[in-house]
Amino acid sequence: MEKFIVRGGKPLQGTIDVSGAKNASLALIPATLLAPGVYNLSNTPNLRDVWTMSRLMSSLGVHCELNDSTLFVDSSNVTSLEAPYEHVKKMRASFYVLGPLLARYGKAKVSLPGGCAWGPRPVDLHIKGLKKLGATIELDSGYVLAETDRLRGDHVHFDISSVGATVNILFGAVLARGESLITNAATEPEVTALARMLVSMGAEIEGIGTTTLRVQGKDELHACDVETIPDRIEAGTFLMAAAMTGGDVTLQNCNPYHLTAVIAKLEEAGVEFDINGSTIRVSTPAGLSAQDITTAVYPGFPTDLQAQWTACMLVAQGSATVTDTVYHDRFKHVPELNRLGADIEVTDNTAHIRGGAELSGASVMSTDLRASASLILAALVAKGSTEILRIYHIDRGYEAIEQKLRKLGADISRVRTEEF
Ligand code: UD1
Repeated sequence: MEKFIVRGGKPLQGTIDVSGAKNASLALIPATLLAPGVYNLSNTPNLRDVWTMSRLMSSLGVHCELNDSTLFVDSSNVTSLEAPYEHVKKMRASFYVLGPLLARYGKAKVSLPGGCAWGPRPVDLHIKGLKKLGATIELDSGYVLAETDRLRGDHVHFDISSVGATVNILFGAVLARGESLITNAATEPEVTALARMLVSMGAEIEGIGTTTLRVQGKDELHACDVETIPDRIEAGTFLMAAAMTGGDVTLQNCNPYHLTAVIAKLEEAGVEFDINGSTIRVSTPAGLSAQDITTAVYPGFPTDLQAQWTACMLVAQGSATVTDTVYHDRFKHVPELNRLGADIEVTDNTAHIRGGAELSGASVMSTDLRASASLILAALVAKGSTEILRIYHIDRGYEAIEQKLRKLGADISRVRTEEF
């Protein structure tokens, strides 16, 4: 096992590059199942969830190899249509292979993902949508067994906006017979990135980036090369780290447009921005004032930055509330932040944060990916030394986070430990 040791108190300063978006990669990689061939996915981040997806693809007969930041994928020889529990339990996005396997090969057996660290995360919308496109789906011994002669276009309306369900239904619709209409589709940039890749593969999709997608199904698609969009969650995490430490940080290779809600909130809190194309410079000359947030689907404030905002508000003047409307139970980071001296109370799906508390180093435990990021942020401003255990969570979704933080002057090191 490994842990981070962070000694807080240093303002971050300098320039770093933002990596490719984990959540986009996790959709782009299974898209290669839709058309046999060779793909080069550039700007792919080198992190654990991408390795997990690559291993799952290998188990299906797809060759994946990451060189520098380009993932070479050869999907010419699919040999299995089954995603076993062993892979899906590690990462829920493994469920993304259901749509393409079914659409391209007419059959798929995919383990149900189950819950995650902060609560239940159903896949009913994925299943309902694929059934609407004509699939026969049964649940048996924890597996989804899906079959079809060929999917047929239809109207799929989502009661709730879901990134994952939109991805799986898009996979089905692009190879279905006839037209599909997807309404209340998710508009997250990662979904848009996938839709653009599908168009590069020969798909016909109207309304990309909106909640209504009209898809003309094709008999076949072809391989393509694609560049993964920048990771807006990684970028947002670094913006908050810079703001909290009173630093002066420049992020390169990001898409400020994808961060509109986050930048607006940071500005309200007193952060200053200098945005130039794909570069964002951030500084906080006069400290932070407390600001409430409520998470929402894109373009609202992302739930994946909720824990980090909670940490950010610990150093702000005043009190703030953080309400998560996407995942009501996503507050596992709160007891750990309180161990560092934070004053946070959770009622229902809202955290009440009293800012200005003096944080001091302690041992804390990562419970999930974004919770771990919030602990690092708090540790960067805590007095003394903080030990963060179970950092395998953070390695799922942040590429070389400690190296990037060290480049900005943080005192953080990764050390081996026997502790679990
Ligand atoms: C994706 C992201 C995750 C992010 C989330 C919300 C990936 C790999 N993961 O997860 O990082 O936190 O979007 O932005 O891109 N729901 C249902 N039934 C379903 C599917 C979802 O009720 O079949 C509900 C969920 O419980 C949740 C809401 O819909 O309340 C949104 O979830 P969804 O957008 O599907 O999240 P994921 O795609 O799993």
